[in-house]
Amino acid sequence: MKAWAVLLLSVIVYAKHDQYEGWKSYYLGPKSQEQLQSIGPLVQQFELDVFSYVNLEREGVVLVKPEHQDGFTRALEEKGIAYRIHSADVKTALEYDDIAVEIKRRENLARKGKELPYDNYQEIEEIAAYLTDIAERYPDRTTLVSGADSFEGRPVYYLKISTTNFEDTRKPVIFIDGGIHAREWISPPTVTWAIHKLLENVTEPDLLERFDWILLPVVNPDGYKYTFTNERMWRKTRSTDQTNTSITCPGVDGNRNYDFFWNTVGTSSNPCSITYAGSRPFSEVETRVVRSILHEHLDRIALYLTMHSFGSLILYPWGNDGSLSHNALNLHLVGVAIADEILAHTLPIFPRYVVGNAALAIGYAASGAAEDYAHSIGVPLSYTIELPSLGQGFILDPRYIEQVCRETWQGIVVGARMAGDLFVL
Ligand SMILES: *[C@@H]1O[C@H](CO)[C@@H](O)[C@H](O)[C@H]1NC(C)=O
Ligand SMILES: *[C@@H]1O[C@H](CO)[C@@H](O)[C@H](O)[C@H]1NC(C)=O
Ligand SMILES: [Zn+2]
Repeated sequence: MKAWAVLLLSVIVYAKHDQYEGWKSYYLGPKSQEQLQSIGPLVQQFELDVFSYVNLEREGVVLVKPEHQDGFTRALEEKGIAYRIHSADVKTALEYDDIAVEIKRRENLARKGKELPYDNYQEIEEIAAYLTDIAERYPDRTTLVSGADSFEGRPVYYLKISTTNFEDTRKPVIFIDGGIHAREWISPPTVTWAIHKLLENVTEPDLLERFDWILLPVVNPDGYKYTFTNERMWRKTRSTDQTNTSITCPGVDGNRNYDFFWNTVGTSSNPCSITYAGSRPFSEVETRVVRSILHEHLDRIALYLTMHSFGSLILYPWGNDGSLSHNALNLHLVGVAIADEILAHTLPIFPRYVVGNAALAIGYAASGAAEDYAHSIGVPLSYTIELPSLGQGFILDPRYIEQVCRETWQGIVVGARMAGDLFVL
């Protein structure tokens, strides 16, 4: 990359991240379960933006506004929780990330065809075009559905893949979604990669014979778009119809909006908060799309996965209070099998996955999550997957996107087969 081009690109991205002026990000490294559990209250008290979840086996990353930095570090020192600076200048770090993505995007412009990139992040228009193209190329096995229009009017697309047009009701269904949290850019490609592996590059034909699949790469297309155009760290939807203040503070945290102990813990009633639960359960049209899919196929869904980042975690219910469900043993066994398979295909530089209860593994309970809701209505195996990061910067370097997709797919393969073995109609 020539210096002049970097200069030019930095002018283009200049001012986009102004709202992060003075923000810092910190690594947190709690050493005991007690220290881990004490982080949850700090998240609320200091309005922390949890970027990468903490675990006893490795550090997490939180973003802290300027006005809370002193109080936050003092609280950590009082509790003896180890911390160090991740980025002393969040705004500039985000600008560098933009440049890396933009350089790759320009290189890729020359590329022909409808292929989705796996060496760069996938924009919402590219994903929509890919899904449309796939449905045209595989009409006998796929149905493209727009579950609804998003708040801003974008279709919330999902693809149904089946050898029997979903008519063989003895087949278990596997449902995978991604992109509910807008900024978690590594999530949608892991879902589009699953589509690629079920249709374009079939190396596990049993998965198509045995199961029907529902793949929803971007639950929150408005927020996702907004992270590419306006605010890289945006997490929520973009709705403005929740309260009188929603105009100045749009959006709801989709993964706090499900009707499971809604807005009781790890959430906020303040529309300006990044964990705002919404004005009521399922206030968001985007979460209602997922709800409809879950209910429509409830008697057949053997496995539900919802893709997030970061943390290298496989999390299962109940995330609101750390208690275990009736199916906890199977949830744990299948989760460990998925993690083991990913480990067998990962790179040594990636952190090892940790498998556990969603509240206990990260010391942070939260209500209204999709994975809890799906399990509460009867999906036997339901997981939040926090995909890996490498700890530097705010994006996973685009060169690792395909690796994460490949290893995650290997985990999905094992998880699906086990879910099929355990499934009883
Ligand atoms: C799938 O992709 C791999 C390369 O990643 C290739 O070697 C293989 O031939 C492909 N298989 C099919 C069935 O397309
Ligand atoms: C919104 O504003 C209107 C009038 O400005 C007021 O009557 C109403 O109570 C407000 N609603 C909420 C939820 O604050
Ligand atoms: Zn997330």
